[in-house]
Amino acid sequence: MFLKICYRSLLLAVLIAARTVAADKPDAPGLPAKSHVYVTANFPRHVVAAKIRQLDNTPDSNPLTDAGATLGRVLFYDRQLSKNDTTACASCHLQENAFTDPRQFSRGFADGNTMRNSMSLANLRFTNVRGELPGFFWDERAATLEAQVLMPIQDKVEMGMELPELEEKLRKLPYYPPLFQAAFGSPKVTSEGISKAVAQFMRSMVSFDSRFDRAAVEADGDDYSMDFAAFTPEENLGKKLFIEGVSGVAEIGCAHCHVPPTFAMPKSFNIGLDFYYVDQGLGARDVPSNDPFTTSNDGKFRAPSLRNIALTAPYMHDGRFETLEQVIQHYSSGVHPHVNVALALDATEDGDKLATSGFVLADSERAALVAFLKTLTDDKFIHDPRFADPFVRLAD
Ligand code: HEC
Ligand code: HEC
Repeated sequence: MFLKICYRSLLLAVLIAARTVAADKPDAPGLPAKSHVYVTANFPRHVVAAKIRQLDNTPDSNPLTDAGATLGRVLFYDRQLSKNDTTACASCHLQENAFTDPRQFSRGFADGNTMRNSMSLANLRFTNVRGELPGFFWDERAATLEAQVLMPIQDKVEMGMELPELEEKLRKLPYYPPLFQAAFGSPKVTSEGISKAVAQFMRSMVSFDSRFDRAAVEADGDDYSMDFAAFTPEENLGKKLFIEGVSGVAEIGCAHCHVPPTFAMPKSFNIGLDFYYVDQGLGARDVPSNDPFTTSNDGKFRAPSLRNIALTAPYMHDGRFETLEQVIQHYSSGVHPHVNVALALDATEDGDKLATSGFVLADSERAALVAFLKTLTDDKFIHDPRFADPFVRLAD
Protein backbone atom coordinates (compact mmCIF):
# COMPACT_ATOMS: atom_id res chain seq x y z
CA MET A 1 0.00 0.00 0.00
CA PHE A 2 2.76 2.39 1.06
CA LEU A 3 4.72 1.51 -2.04
CA LYS A 4 1.66 2.13 -4.13
CA ILE A 5 1.18 5.61 -2.65
CA CYS A 6 4.87 6.40 -3.12
CA TYR A 7 4.68 5.20 -6.63
CA ARG A 8 1.57 7.26 -7.34
CA SER A 9 3.18 10.45 -6.06
CA LEU A 10 6.26 9.67 -8.10
CA LEU A 11 4.17 9.23 -11.20
CA LEU A 12 2.37 12.48 -10.50
CA ALA A 13 5.63 14.32 -9.96
CA VAL A 14 7.00 12.99 -13.22
CA LEU A 15 3.86 13.94 -15.06
CA ILE A 16 3.86 17.44 -13.62
CA ALA A 17 7.56 17.74 -14.45
CA ALA A 18 6.88 16.55 -17.96
CA ARG A 19 4.19 19.17 -18.33
CA THR A 20 6.37 21.94 -16.98
CA VAL A 21 9.33 21.02 -19.15
CA ALA A 22 7.13 20.88 -22.17
CA ALA A 23 5.05 23.86 -21.15
CA ASP A 24 5.48 25.69 -24.42
CA LYS A 25 5.02 22.53 -26.43
CA PRO A 26 1.31 21.79 -26.81
CA ASP A 27 2.21 18.12 -26.74
CA ALA A 28 2.15 17.07 -23.09
CA PRO A 29 -1.16 15.51 -22.07
CA GLY A 30 -3.17 16.96 -19.22
CA LEU A 31 -4.29 14.10 -16.98
CA PRO A 32 -6.31 14.29 -13.77
CA ALA A 33 -4.29 13.98 -10.55
CA LYS A 34 -6.61 11.19 -9.47
CA SER A 35 -7.06 8.71 -12.29
CA HIS A 36 -10.40 8.40 -14.02
CA VAL A 37 -12.17 5.11 -13.41
CA TYR A 38 -12.35 3.00 -16.55
CA VAL A 39 -13.07 -0.37 -15.00
CA THR A 40 -16.84 -0.15 -14.90
CA ALA A 41 -18.80 -3.04 -13.53
CA ASN A 42 -22.29 -1.60 -13.52
CA PHE A 43 -24.44 -2.12 -16.56
CA PRO A 44 -28.18 -1.50 -16.80
CA ARG A 45 -30.37 -4.45 -15.88
CA HIS A 46 -31.50 -5.23 -19.41
CA VAL A 47 -27.87 -5.28 -20.58
CA VAL A 48 -26.87 -7.68 -17.81
CA ALA A 49 -29.90 -9.82 -18.63
CA ALA A 50 -28.65 -10.10 -22.21
CA LYS A 51 -25.66 -12.00 -20.80
CA ILE A 52 -23.33 -9.24 -21.84
CA ARG A 53 -20.40 -10.79 -20.01
CA GLN A 54 -20.46 -13.76 -22.37
CA LEU A 55 -19.94 -11.34 -25.24
CA ASP A 56 -16.87 -9.82 -23.56
CA ASN A 57 -13.76 -10.26 -25.73
CA THR A 58 -11.25 -9.14 -23.06
CA PRO A 59 -8.38 -11.65 -23.19
CA ASP A 60 -6.78 -12.97 -19.97
CA SER A 61 -3.49 -11.55 -21.23
CA ASN A 62 -4.82 -7.97 -21.28
CA PRO A 63 -7.26 -7.20 -18.47
CA LEU A 64 -8.72 -3.70 -18.38
CA THR A 65 -7.08 -1.42 -15.79
CA ASP A 66 -7.43 2.30 -15.12
CA ALA A 67 -3.71 2.90 -15.72
CA GLY A 68 -3.78 0.90 -18.96
CA ALA A 69 -6.80 2.75 -20.33
CA THR A 70 -5.26 6.09 -19.29
CA LEU A 71 -2.16 5.32 -21.34
CA GLY A 72 -4.43 4.13 -24.16
CA ARG A 73 -6.31 7.43 -24.08
CA VAL A 74 -3.07 9.43 -24.43
CA LEU A 75 -1.90 7.22 -27.32
CA PHE A 76 -5.30 7.41 -29.02
CA TYR A 77 -5.13 11.21 -29.13
CA ASP A 78 -1.40 11.59 -29.81
CA ARG A 79 -0.63 12.83 -33.33
CA GLN A 80 2.99 11.76 -32.87
CA LEU A 81 1.89 8.20 -33.57
CA SER A 82 1.87 9.19 -37.25
CA LYS A 83 4.84 9.66 -39.55
CA ASN A 84 4.59 13.47 -39.69
CA ASP A 85 2.85 14.25 -36.38
CA THR A 86 -0.41 15.20 -38.09
CA THR A 87 -2.71 12.27 -37.50
CA ALA A 88 -3.98 10.56 -34.36
CA CYS A 89 -6.52 7.75 -34.09
CA ALA A 90 -8.86 10.51 -32.96
CA SER A 91 -8.40 12.40 -36.25
CA CYS A 92 -10.71 9.86 -37.88
CA HIS A 93 -12.64 8.78 -34.77
CA LEU A 94 -14.17 11.94 -33.27
CA GLN A 95 -15.84 11.77 -29.86
CA GLU A 96 -18.61 14.17 -30.88
CA ASN A 97 -19.50 11.72 -33.66
CA ALA A 98 -19.43 8.69 -31.36
CA PHE A 99 -15.86 8.07 -32.54
CA THR A 100 -16.49 7.96 -36.24
CA ASP A 101 -15.68 10.53 -38.95
CA PRO A 102 -18.34 12.80 -40.49
CA ARG A 103 -16.40 12.70 -43.77
CA GLN A 104 -17.34 9.98 -46.26
CA PHE A 105 -13.69 8.94 -46.42
CA SER A 106 -11.11 9.93 -43.83
CA ARG A 107 -7.91 11.78 -44.57
CA GLY A 108 -4.61 10.12 -43.65
CA PHE A 109 -1.26 11.64 -42.64
CA ALA A 110 -0.21 12.45 -46.23
CA ASP A 111 -3.67 13.67 -47.30
CA GLY A 112 -4.58 10.35 -48.91
CA ASN A 113 -8.15 9.13 -48.51
CA THR A 114 -9.12 5.90 -46.78
CA MET A 115 -10.96 3.34 -48.91
CA ARG A 116 -13.89 3.04 -46.53
CA ASN A 117 -15.98 5.09 -44.12
CA SER A 118 -14.63 5.22 -40.57
CA MET A 119 -16.43 3.15 -37.91
CA SER A 120 -17.86 4.07 -34.53
CA LEU A 121 -15.96 2.63 -31.55
CA ALA A 122 -18.71 2.07 -28.96
CA ASN A 123 -19.01 -1.27 -27.13
CA LEU A 124 -16.24 -2.99 -29.11
CA ARG A 125 -15.60 -4.99 -25.96
CA PHE A 126 -18.79 -6.98 -26.51
CA THR A 127 -18.50 -8.92 -29.76
CA ASN A 128 -17.98 -12.54 -28.82
CA VAL A 129 -21.17 -14.13 -30.06
CA ARG A 130 -20.80 -17.86 -29.67
CA GLY A 131 -20.40 -19.69 -32.95
CA GLU A 132 -19.42 -16.54 -34.82
CA LEU A 133 -15.83 -15.47 -35.16
CA PRO A 134 -15.60 -11.85 -34.15
CA GLY A 135 -13.59 -9.70 -36.51
CA PHE A 136 -12.96 -5.97 -36.52
CA PHE A 137 -13.20 -3.63 -39.55
CA TRP A 138 -15.88 -3.73 -42.24
CA ASP A 139 -14.35 -6.94 -43.62
CA GLU A 140 -13.53 -8.54 -40.24
CA ARG A 141 -9.82 -8.68 -41.05
CA ALA A 142 -8.56 -8.01 -37.50
CA ALA A 143 -9.18 -11.00 -35.24
CA THR A 144 -8.62 -9.11 -31.99
CA LEU A 145 -8.67 -5.50 -30.84
CA GLU A 146 -4.99 -5.85 -29.88
CA ALA A 147 -4.13 -6.80 -33.48
CA GLN A 148 -6.40 -4.09 -34.84
CA VAL A 149 -4.58 -1.23 -33.07
CA LEU A 150 -1.27 -1.71 -34.89
CA MET A 151 -2.90 -1.79 -38.34
CA PRO A 152 -3.85 1.91 -38.80
CA ILE A 153 -0.48 2.92 -37.33
CA GLN A 154 1.32 0.98 -40.06
CA ASP A 155 -1.18 1.71 -42.81
CA LYS A 156 0.38 3.54 -45.76
CA VAL A 157 -2.56 5.94 -46.02
CA GLU A 158 -3.60 6.36 -42.38
CA MET A 159 -0.54 6.92 -40.15
CA GLY A 160 2.45 5.60 -42.14
CA MET A 161 4.69 4.40 -39.30
CA GLU A 162 6.86 1.37 -38.78
CA LEU A 163 6.84 -0.21 -35.35
CA PRO A 164 10.57 0.10 -34.46
CA GLU A 165 10.44 3.75 -35.56
CA LEU A 166 7.32 4.29 -33.47
CA GLU A 167 8.87 2.81 -30.32
CA GLU A 168 11.98 4.92 -30.81
CA LYS A 169 9.93 8.07 -31.27
CA LEU A 170 7.67 7.55 -28.25
CA ARG A 171 10.60 6.67 -25.97
CA LYS A 172 11.84 10.21 -26.46
CA LEU A 173 8.60 11.78 -25.25
CA PRO A 174 8.98 12.33 -21.50
CA TYR A 175 5.38 11.55 -20.61
CA TYR A 176 5.38 7.97 -21.94
CA PRO A 177 7.80 6.00 -19.71
CA PRO A 178 5.89 6.82 -16.48
CA LEU A 179 2.59 6.00 -18.15
CA PHE A 180 3.96 2.65 -19.35
CA GLN A 181 5.35 2.03 -15.88
CA ALA A 182 1.95 2.63 -14.32
CA ALA A 183 0.16 0.50 -16.89
CA PHE A 184 2.48 -2.46 -17.27
CA GLY A 185 5.08 -2.24 -14.50
CA SER A 186 7.96 -1.26 -16.79
CA PRO A 187 8.84 2.12 -18.32
CA LYS A 188 9.82 0.45 -21.60
CA VAL A 189 7.82 1.65 -24.59
CA THR A 190 6.92 -1.37 -26.72
CA SER A 191 4.53 -1.98 -29.61
CA GLU A 192 2.90 -4.71 -27.57
CA GLY A 193 2.25 -2.24 -24.75
CA ILE A 194 0.88 0.29 -27.22
CA SER A 195 -1.52 -2.22 -28.72
CA LYS A 196 -2.64 -3.49 -25.32
CA ALA A 197 -3.20 -0.01 -23.87
CA VAL A 198 -5.20 1.31 -26.80
CA ALA A 199 -7.25 -1.91 -26.85
CA GLN A 200 -7.99 -1.37 -23.14
CA PHE A 201 -9.03 2.22 -23.79
CA MET A 202 -11.39 1.09 -26.55
CA ARG A 203 -12.83 -1.65 -24.32
CA SER A 204 -13.61 1.02 -21.75
CA MET A 205 -15.71 2.95 -24.31
CA VAL A 206 -19.03 1.53 -23.28
CA SER A 207 -22.27 3.18 -24.36
CA PHE A 208 -25.40 1.95 -22.59
CA ASP A 209 -26.97 5.21 -21.45
CA SER A 210 -29.26 6.29 -24.26
CA ARG A 211 -32.97 7.10 -24.00
CA PHE A 212 -33.56 3.54 -25.18
CA ASP A 213 -31.61 2.17 -22.19
CA ARG A 214 -33.30 4.44 -19.68
CA ALA A 215 -36.72 3.53 -21.03
CA ALA A 216 -35.84 -0.19 -21.00
CA VAL A 217 -34.71 -0.01 -17.38
CA GLU A 218 -37.95 1.72 -16.47
CA ALA A 219 -40.05 -0.84 -18.38
CA ASP A 220 -38.21 -3.60 -16.53
CA GLY A 221 -38.67 -6.05 -19.38
CA ASP A 222 -35.79 -8.05 -20.77
CA ASP A 223 -37.12 -8.81 -24.21
CA TYR A 224 -38.02 -5.24 -25.20
CA SER A 225 -41.40 -6.40 -26.46
CA MET A 226 -43.54 -4.20 -24.21
CA ASP A 227 -44.21 -0.61 -25.18
CA PHE A 228 -41.93 1.74 -23.25
CA ALA A 229 -43.82 4.32 -21.18
CA ALA A 230 -41.06 6.85 -21.81
CA PHE A 231 -41.36 6.52 -25.61
CA THR A 232 -43.75 8.35 -27.93
CA PRO A 233 -46.24 6.15 -29.84
CA GLU A 234 -44.08 6.68 -32.95
CA GLU A 235 -40.91 5.52 -31.18
CA ASN A 236 -42.75 2.48 -29.85
CA LEU A 237 -43.97 1.63 -33.34
CA GLY A 238 -40.39 1.96 -34.60
CA LYS A 239 -39.16 -0.29 -31.79
CA LYS A 240 -41.78 -2.92 -32.63
CA LEU A 241 -40.84 -2.92 -36.31
CA PHE A 242 -37.14 -2.97 -35.51
CA ILE A 243 -37.26 -5.73 -32.93
CA GLU A 244 -40.30 -7.87 -33.68
CA GLY A 245 -40.38 -7.67 -37.42
CA VAL A 246 -41.25 -5.79 -40.52
CA SER A 247 -43.65 -7.18 -43.06
CA GLY A 248 -41.97 -8.29 -46.24
CA VAL A 249 -39.90 -11.23 -47.20
CA ALA A 250 -39.09 -13.04 -44.00
CA GLU A 251 -41.11 -11.04 -41.48
CA ILE A 252 -38.04 -10.52 -39.39
CA GLY A 253 -36.85 -7.38 -37.71
CA CYS A 254 -33.76 -5.30 -38.15
CA ALA A 255 -32.70 -6.78 -34.79
CA HIS A 256 -32.05 -10.07 -36.60
CA CYS A 257 -28.72 -8.54 -37.68
CA HIS A 258 -28.44 -5.51 -35.38
CA VAL A 259 -28.93 -7.43 -32.13
CA PRO A 260 -29.75 -5.52 -28.93
CA PRO A 261 -28.33 -4.49 -26.55
CA THR A 262 -25.24 -3.76 -28.72
CA PHE A 263 -27.35 -3.47 -31.90
CA ALA A 264 -24.50 -5.14 -33.76
CA MET A 265 -23.56 -8.60 -34.98
CA PRO A 266 -20.05 -9.91 -35.55
CA LYS A 267 -21.00 -11.31 -38.93
CA SER A 268 -21.02 -9.99 -42.47
CA PHE A 269 -23.97 -9.87 -44.86
CA ASN A 270 -24.68 -8.65 -48.36
CA ILE A 271 -27.62 -6.28 -48.05
CA GLY A 272 -28.03 -5.68 -51.78
CA LEU A 273 -26.45 -2.25 -51.97
CA ASP A 274 -25.27 -2.89 -55.55
CA PHE A 275 -25.58 -5.25 -58.49
CA TYR A 276 -21.82 -5.13 -58.74
CA TYR A 277 -19.69 -4.15 -55.78
CA VAL A 278 -16.55 -2.10 -56.43
CA ASP A 279 -15.39 -3.10 -52.95
CA GLN A 280 -16.17 -6.78 -52.28
CA GLY A 281 -15.65 -6.51 -48.51
CA LEU A 282 -15.29 -9.94 -46.93
CA GLY A 283 -15.26 -11.34 -50.49
CA ALA A 284 -11.87 -9.75 -51.18
CA ARG A 285 -10.34 -11.81 -48.41
CA ASP A 286 -9.30 -15.40 -48.86
CA VAL A 287 -11.84 -17.03 -46.54
CA PRO A 288 -14.57 -19.59 -47.31
CA SER A 289 -18.21 -18.49 -47.64
CA ASN A 290 -19.62 -17.62 -44.22
CA ASP A 291 -23.03 -19.10 -44.96
CA PRO A 292 -24.28 -22.31 -46.68
CA PHE A 293 -26.82 -20.39 -48.79
CA THR A 294 -24.31 -18.14 -50.51
CA THR A 295 -21.66 -19.01 -53.06
CA SER A 296 -18.98 -16.57 -51.97
CA ASN A 297 -18.51 -13.62 -49.62
CA ASP A 298 -18.72 -10.98 -52.35
CA GLY A 299 -20.39 -7.77 -51.22
CA LYS A 300 -20.59 -8.86 -47.58
CA PHE A 301 -19.74 -6.36 -44.87
CA ARG A 302 -19.96 -6.59 -41.11
CA ALA A 303 -23.29 -5.57 -39.57
CA PRO A 304 -22.18 -2.56 -37.54
CA SER A 305 -23.54 -1.30 -34.25
CA LEU A 306 -26.43 1.14 -34.52
CA ARG A 307 -25.64 2.68 -31.12
CA ASN A 308 -25.45 6.49 -31.54
CA ILE A 309 -26.40 6.04 -35.19
CA ALA A 310 -27.94 9.54 -35.40
CA LEU A 311 -24.41 10.91 -34.81
CA THR A 312 -22.44 8.69 -37.18
CA ALA A 313 -23.49 9.76 -40.70
CA PRO A 314 -22.66 9.11 -43.46
CA TYR A 315 -23.73 5.48 -43.54
CA MET A 316 -22.57 2.11 -44.91
CA HIS A 317 -19.01 0.90 -45.60
CA ASP A 318 -18.58 3.54 -48.29
CA GLY A 319 -20.58 6.28 -46.59
CA ARG A 320 -23.00 6.41 -49.54
CA PHE A 321 -26.07 7.52 -47.56
CA GLU A 322 -26.17 10.86 -45.82
CA THR A 323 -29.36 10.37 -43.83
CA LEU A 324 -31.16 7.64 -41.93
CA GLU A 325 -34.18 8.21 -44.19
CA GLN A 326 -32.01 7.19 -47.15
CA VAL A 327 -30.89 4.06 -45.29
CA ILE A 328 -34.48 3.02 -44.58
CA GLN A 329 -35.40 3.80 -48.16
CA HIS A 330 -32.69 1.38 -49.23
CA TYR A 331 -34.07 -1.41 -47.04
CA SER A 332 -37.61 -0.87 -48.33
CA SER A 333 -37.16 -0.32 -52.04
CA GLY A 334 -33.49 -0.11 -52.92
CA VAL A 335 -32.31 -3.68 -52.33
CA HIS A 336 -30.58 -4.89 -55.49
CA PRO A 337 -30.62 -8.53 -56.54
CA HIS A 338 -27.33 -10.28 -55.88
CA VAL A 339 -26.46 -13.97 -55.55
CA ASN A 340 -25.22 -13.37 -52.03
CA VAL A 341 -27.99 -11.16 -50.72
CA ALA A 342 -29.05 -12.06 -47.17
CA LEU A 343 -32.04 -14.41 -47.01
CA ALA A 344 -33.93 -11.86 -44.92
CA LEU A 345 -33.89 -9.46 -47.85
CA ASP A 346 -34.43 -12.00 -50.61
CA ALA A 347 -37.96 -11.98 -51.99
CA THR A 348 -37.83 -15.38 -53.60
CA GLU A 349 -36.36 -17.27 -50.64
CA ASP A 350 -35.51 -20.07 -53.04
CA GLY A 351 -31.93 -19.28 -53.85
CA ASP A 352 -32.91 -17.58 -57.11
CA LYS A 353 -31.98 -14.19 -55.87
CA LEU A 354 -33.02 -12.25 -58.89
CA ALA A 355 -36.09 -10.63 -57.41
CA THR A 356 -35.25 -9.06 -54.12
CA SER A 357 -37.63 -6.70 -52.43
CA GLY A 358 -36.46 -5.91 -48.93
CA PHE A 359 -38.93 -4.78 -46.31
CA VAL A 360 -42.42 -3.50 -47.05
CA LEU A 361 -42.83 -0.22 -45.19
CA ALA A 362 -45.49 2.48 -45.23
CA ASP A 363 -44.31 6.09 -44.98
CA SER A 364 -45.38 6.29 -41.35
CA GLU A 365 -43.43 3.11 -40.57
CA ARG A 366 -40.31 4.46 -42.22
CA ALA A 367 -40.56 7.61 -40.09
CA ALA A 368 -41.16 5.47 -36.99
CA LEU A 369 -37.99 3.47 -37.62
CA VAL A 370 -35.97 6.68 -37.90
CA ALA A 371 -37.55 7.99 -34.68
CA PHE A 372 -36.61 4.75 -32.93
CA LEU A 373 -33.01 4.84 -34.20
CA LYS A 374 -32.66 8.32 -32.73
CA THR A 375 -33.38 6.94 -29.24
CA LEU A 376 -30.01 5.12 -29.38
CA THR A 377 -28.03 8.34 -28.89
CA ASP A 378 -25.97 8.45 -25.69
CA ASP A 379 -25.14 12.07 -24.85
CA LYS A 380 -23.03 11.15 -21.84
CA PHE A 381 -20.81 8.98 -23.99
CA ILE A 382 -19.91 11.78 -26.37
CA HIS A 383 -19.26 14.23 -23.54
CA ASP A 384 -17.52 11.80 -21.17
CA PRO A 385 -14.25 13.44 -20.00
CA ARG A 386 -12.67 9.99 -19.61
CA PHE A 387 -12.74 9.61 -23.39
CA ALA A 388 -11.89 13.21 -24.29
CA ASP A 389 -8.72 14.65 -25.79
CA PRO A 390 -6.08 15.04 -23.03
CA PHE A 391 -3.95 17.25 -25.28
CA VAL A 392 -6.53 20.01 -25.45
CA ARG A 393 -5.23 23.02 -23.62
CA LEU A 394 -7.71 24.35 -21.13
CA ALA A 395 -8.30 28.08 -21.29
CA ASP A 396 -6.47 29.85 -18.44
C1 HEC B 1 -6.94 8.10 -41.44
C2 HEC B 1 -8.12 7.71 -40.69
C3 HEC B 1 -8.01 6.72 -39.58
C4 HEC B 1 -7.07 6.67 -38.57
C5 HEC B 1 -5.86 7.57 -38.36
C6 HEC B 1 -7.47 5.58 -37.71
N1 HEC B 1 -8.61 5.00 -38.18
FE1 HEC B 1 -9.64 3.50 -37.29
N2 HEC B 1 -10.80 3.32 -38.93
C7 HEC B 1 -10.75 4.14 -40.03
C8 HEC B 1 -11.50 3.55 -41.12
C9 HEC B 1 -11.67 4.16 -42.50
C10 HEC B 1 -12.02 2.33 -40.64
C11 HEC B 1 -12.76 1.28 -41.44
C12 HEC B 1 -11.67 0.58 -42.27
C13 HEC B 1 -12.03 -0.75 -42.88
O1 HEC B 1 -12.96 -1.40 -42.41
O2 HEC B 1 -11.36 -1.18 -43.81
C14 HEC B 1 -11.56 2.23 -39.25
C15 HEC B 1 -11.90 1.17 -38.39
C16 HEC B 1 -11.46 1.07 -37.08
C17 HEC B 1 -11.87 0.05 -36.15
C18 HEC B 1 -12.84 -1.09 -36.42
C19 HEC B 1 -14.13 -0.91 -35.65
C20 HEC B 1 -15.05 -2.09 -35.80
O3 HEC B 1 -16.22 -1.98 -35.39
O4 HEC B 1 -14.64 -3.12 -36.34
C21 HEC B 1 -11.21 0.29 -34.98
C22 HEC B 1 -11.32 -0.50 -33.69
C23 HEC B 1 -10.38 1.45 -35.19
N3 HEC B 1 -10.55 1.91 -36.48
C24 HEC B 1 -9.52 1.98 -34.24
C25 HEC B 1 -8.48 2.86 -34.58
C26 HEC B 1 -7.34 3.12 -33.73
C27 HEC B 1 -7.10 2.52 -32.37
C28 HEC B 1 -6.54 4.00 -34.40
C29 HEC B 1 -5.20 4.56 -34.00
C30 HEC B 1 -4.17 3.59 -33.65
C31 HEC B 1 -7.23 4.30 -35.66
N4 HEC B 1 -8.39 3.58 -35.73
C32 HEC B 1 -6.76 5.20 -36.59
C33 HEC B 1 -10.05 5.33 -40.12
C34 HEC B 1 -8.96 5.64 -39.32
C1 HEC C 1 -29.40 -9.34 -43.06
C2 HEC C 1 -28.86 -8.53 -42.02
C3 HEC C 1 -29.40 -7.12 -41.84
C4 HEC C 1 -30.71 -6.73 -41.64
C5 HEC C 1 -31.95 -7.61 -41.59
C6 HEC C 1 -30.67 -5.30 -41.46
N1 HEC C 1 -29.38 -4.85 -41.55
FE1 HEC C 1 -28.77 -2.92 -41.37
N2 HEC C 1 -26.88 -3.45 -41.91
C7 HEC C 1 -26.46 -4.75 -42.17
C8 HEC C 1 -25.13 -4.71 -42.73
C9 HEC C 1 -24.30 -5.92 -43.14
C10 HEC C 1 -24.77 -3.35 -42.83
C11 HEC C 1 -23.47 -2.77 -43.44
C12 HEC C 1 -23.59 -2.91 -44.95
C13 HEC C 1 -22.50 -2.26 -45.76
O1 HEC C 1 -21.98 -1.22 -45.38
O2 HEC C 1 -22.21 -2.80 -46.84
C14 HEC C 1 -25.91 -2.59 -42.30
C15 HEC C 1 -25.92 -1.21 -42.16
C16 HEC C 1 -26.95 -0.49 -41.57
C17 HEC C 1 -26.91 0.91 -41.26
C18 HEC C 1 -25.72 1.84 -41.48
C19 HEC C 1 -24.73 1.67 -40.33
C20 HEC C 1 -23.47 2.49 -40.44
O3 HEC C 1 -22.79 2.63 -39.41
O4 HEC C 1 -23.14 2.97 -41.52
C21 HEC C 1 -28.11 1.24 -40.68
C22 HEC C 1 -28.52 2.59 -40.15
C23 HEC C 1 -28.92 0.04 -40.68
N3 HEC C 1 -28.18 -0.99 -41.21
C24 HEC C 1 -30.21 -0.04 -40.20
C25 HEC C 1 -31.02 -1.15 -40.37
C26 HEC C 1 -32.46 -1.14 -40.18
C27 HEC C 1 -33.27 0.04 -39.70
C28 HEC C 1 -32.92 -2.38 -40.52
C29 HEC C 1 -34.36 -2.86 -40.58
C30 HEC C 1 -35.22 -2.14 -41.47
C31 HEC C 1 -31.74 -3.18 -40.88
N4 HEC C 1 -30.63 -2.39 -40.79
C32 HEC C 1 -31.80 -4.51 -41.23
C33 HEC C 1 -27.20 -5.89 -41.95
C34 HEC C 1 -28.57 -5.93 -41.78
